[in-house]
Amino acid sequence: MNSPRKDLQDVIGDPLLRLRGLYLQSVPADKIPFSALIPAVVDGDFQDRLYNTVLSEDATAPYPPATLYTKRFLKLLIDTLQRRLGEDEELHEGILTLYTSLLSEASSITDITRPAYITYTLPLYSSLPLKESKVVISERRHLLSADGHTGSRTWEAALALGEHFLSKISNFDRPLSECRVLELGAGTAFTSILLSKLRTKYVLATDGDERVCEAIQTNIDLNIPRESRDGSIAVSQLLWGVSQVDNHVYSEMWDLIVGSDITYDTSDLSDLIYTLNRLLQKNKDRSAVAIISATVRNEDTIREFEKQLVDAGLRFDSQVVGADGRQLWHYGSDIPISLYTIHPM
Ligand SMILES: C[S@@+](CC[C@H](N)C(=O)[O-])C[C@H]1O[C@@H](n2cnc3c(N)ncnc32)[C@H](O)[C@@H]1O
Repeated sequence: MNSPRKDLQDVIGDPLLRLRGLYLQSVPADKIPFSALIPAVVDGDFQDRLYNTVLSEDATAPYPPATLYTKRFLKLLIDTLQRRLGEDEELHEGILTLYTSLLSEASSITDITRPAYITYTLPLYSSLPLKESKVVISERRHLLSADGHTGSRTWEAALALGEHFLSKISNFDRPLSECRVLELGAGTAFTSILLSKLRTKYVLATDGDERVCEAIQTNIDLNIPRESRDGSIAVSQLLWGVSQVDNHVYSEMWDLIVGSDITYDTSDLSDLIYTLNRLLQKNKDRSAVAIISATVRNEDTIREFEKQLVDAGLRFDSQVVGADGRQLWHYGSDIPISLYTIHPM
């Protein structure tokens, strides 16, 4: 559905757009503030707008949230609506029909393990050169760590990095349309896909895990049809460190290197720093920078990351992502996130 361009406060301040964003992101239904988003007295007009904006096929096509999730969402939504229906008002027929049809669908315990489409709604600020208003990712959220990797879901550090690009877009010293961007440890490739939608010249999403790279290709296909891709986004396997010193990414030119939630494992840090250092030194004459967003689960690990950056001769500054940098999407926790901007000496 194409919405007219709005700015951040319009999107956040509009209860139905907010509810739609939370629903499409499949935010756990018990975390959705229905009471705050539904008016104290509900009439037919409001229910029409609610249905059309949040639940109708137009609002959710072509990648609606999973059936199991929608049932739970509708149950809590209907509970709130029923408590607030004005005198002589009835529950909206479309909402009721949707709920009863989902209830009659058989579900099994394995539904919870299936990949689900998670839609991250993008704000259409007038200043953004966005191609489209959403990023759709096929995620397996129940898996924190699957088959030895953690790339089956989009982590909060990726959302914070995305918000950073969306809000700072006009402050970059060169337009993204002139940048070649490399993402390290891309996982679902949320950031790469977002950057591609921001009309970045070229984005290469990389990850060390082969199955993660296959899933990235699926996510790219979901978002950017092959016929309109113009070779501007691709995926390639890259394991950090000396073991892949001959990987083609080291001989290509990059302006920006990005990564999110890739600093959590101390045993991987020296390989990550090796790769960052090599890429930044090689692209020094292009004034390449790296922007890495790190979820600070463990202070010692992040101190070690900083120490190794300094030991490698890399300069960095860091900023904590505050509440104003976590507004666009739902963040499941308050764990601190820091953004590192890293330059070669
Ligand atoms: C916690 S996930 C973060 C994924 C994504 N950046 C995000 O924030 O949603 C870490 C990712 O780094 C990748 N990774 C871990 N160690 C790696 C290594 N040594 N080389 C390349 N990728 C690695 C994993 O496969 C996984 O996809």
